[in-house]
Amino acid sequence: MNKEKILVTAALPYANGPIHLGHLAGAYLPADIFVRYNRLKGSDILFVCGSDEHGVPITITADKEGVKPKDIIDRIHAINKDSFEKIGMSFDIYSRTSLPIHHETGKEFFLEFLKQGLLKEKKTLQFYDEKANMFLPDRYVEGTCPNCGNESARSDECETCGALYEPSALKNPISKISGNTPVLKETSHWFFPLGKFQERLEAYIKEMDEKFHWKENVLQYCRSWFKDGLQDRAVTRDLDWGIPVPLDDAKGKVLYVWFEAVLGYISAAKELSEKRGEPDLWKNYWQDPNTKYIAFIGKDNVVFHTIFFPAMLMAWNDGRDDKYVLPQNVPANEFYNFEGKKFSKSRNWGIDVIDFLKAFPADPLRYTLAANLPEMRDTDFHWKEFQARNNNELSAILGNFINRTFTFVFKNFDGKVPPQFTLEEIDNEMIVLLGSYPAKTSALFENYKIKDATLEIMNLARAANKYFNDAEPWKTIKTDKEKCSTTLNICLQTIFTLAELIEPIIPFSSQKIFSMLNARPVAWDDCGNQHLSTGHQLNNFEILFKKIEDEDLAPFLAKVEADEIVETKTEESKIEDGLISFDDFQKVQLKVVEVLTAEKVAKSEKLLKLKVSLGTEERQILAGIAKQYAPEEIVGKKIVIVANLKPAKLMGMESQGMVLAVEGEGKLHLLNVDPSIPNGTRAK
Ligand code: 2FM
Ligand code: ZN
Repeated sequence: MNKEKILVTAALPYANGPIHLGHLAGAYLPADIFVRYNRLKGSDILFVCGSDEHGVPITITADKEGVKPKDIIDRIHAINKDSFEKIGMSFDIYSRTSLPIHHETGKEFFLEFLKQGLLKEKKTLQFYDEKANMFLPDRYVEGTCPNCGNESARSDECETCGALYEPSALKNPISKISGNTPVLKETSHWFFPLGKFQERLEAYIKEMDEKFHWKENVLQYCRSWFKDGLQDRAVTRDLDWGIPVPLDDAKGKVLYVWFEAVLGYISAAKELSEKRGEPDLWKNYWQDPNTKYIAFIGKDNVVFHTIFFPAMLMAWNDGRDDKYVLPQNVPANEFYNFEGKKFSKSRNWGIDVIDFLKAFPADPLRYTLAANLPEMRDTDFHWKEFQARNNNELSAILGNFINRTFTFVFKNFDGKVPPQFTLEEIDNEMIVLLGSYPAKTSALFENYKIKDATLEIMNLARAANKYFNDAEPWKTIKTDKEKCSTTLNICLQTIFTLAELIEPIIPFSSQKIFSMLNARPVAWDDCGNQHLSTGHQLNNFEILFKKIEDEDLAPFLAKVEADEIVETKTEESKIEDGLISFDDFQKVQLKVVEVLTAEKVAKSEKLLKLKVSLGTEERQILAGIAKQYAPEEIVGKKIVIVANLKPAKLMGMESQGMVLAVEGEGKLHLLNVDPSIPNGTRAK
């Protein structure tokens, strides 16, 4: 039988700073778990990743530190490579986009598109910082929106009102690099005609979704891009750091970082081929129509992987015989936050993987992240949850079951697998349960429901403890030695199954368990069967999961608290100590409403669009609660709104009111009202 060929890529992280836990949960851990699972299934996998080493942020960091971009990327590439190794990412290669092999790939694509007549050179006006001597990318210019007056609008779009405009329309522009007023200067760039591919991209995504079920969050992003209509996109930039545009008259220009970064997945595979001395290895995956290509990313990368990259591959394939495969699925995750707030390097909020691993082992972190992945909506890392997952689940359930079984077998059966005698109902039930696990968990892993798979596997460890308790081997050892022997045999078979099922999640511990069992993993589909023969000698055992004590966490919790106090104080000092009259209060109409429908707002992380009923009328409200509430969670809830707030436009849509919420532990909580209160009731 031919093995299924799977190419897995995980977003190439910018070599601009060390990766943190948010990166892991967003893309890397799900990718690694998926890959490890598929390797056990017997698939033929190529898993690539690497550092994304171009782009403006890197040049800015270098300027700030007074060093060269090369110094930054060398340092960060080494840190991130090391972080990934220590957390157990099983990449076949961790490459980098500054390598010549990647520069060649980037240039090759650019020249192919030029040859096909796809790229158009156009003159544009762009902000130029005369002090920093550089053209300013969109996000390095801030000004006042010509439409709504928002003072922190970007050079060509306003995030508050959704307006798009020419940079020349932006009022009071300021360069975020030097703080100076930039000037508009003419420059020319090459544009890729994305619009030409819109119909084919829509058909491609529709087909992939029908066949392979894309995630709803991903589809929503795509729909909103299609709805706005795809525009020509510049694929070059005025910068001196990046892949030089391979044309004589393009001095000082490089390929746009997103144009070449996605090609880094291809270059990484090429580098691996070179290293292994198998020149065609990369083609076996990238250019074989039978390859299943899965691209793991975080939600901020969706458009580049579902629209830009596929369009580039389509364009290449149009003109060539050496055709590439397109992603079959792009299972993007939402964001993973830290103790209620977004990870932020500048605010020193969060923890880098490398620092985390100085204090704690990899597997408890992998398990904690896996059990709470932001697959459907944003989730959070909490130190207390980390402690609880380690102590109450890994240690008290899985570790305890393994430990008590080994202790018993060494004490009573010389560390050898004891024989099975007559099977009773409880034994048969356990055997059937084991047998059901490979298929049950496969269905979850294959649908990217990694969080559910993780919890399901821990349920097997729970069932195993119950089996041990119910069978009472500490009694039967005295009263019915055969029954006792049967129980312990089945417990050991269960440990085997658990060790394999949990390998994708906690590979370091899985390896230890297999070594304690003196055994090796089998094919995934077979791991629910019995593999330890009677008399098989076990190895010495060790404690797998050390308890995390309060004092181990104390320094980390103290840091979180200290940062929160600083933040609250700054917030409080902004509020004036003003009293209002009862009349003032009376002006505010607070009313009870029922949420009829709720949906995410495309391109916004924060907003949910709600339709609410006030009894006599319905209203549309845009509420900044998307990070805390999934739409389905709040439909049907009774909440309180300010009903006489002037309507406002957010992201081009009208919001007719405001929901009331309280902030606690960095999270928003909606004010809930007893469901029996009629819609429209006024709060006084
Ligand atoms: O968001 C990021 O960190 C980007 N560097 C991801 C790039 S993914 C791919 F294009 F390489
Ligand atoms: Zn605006």
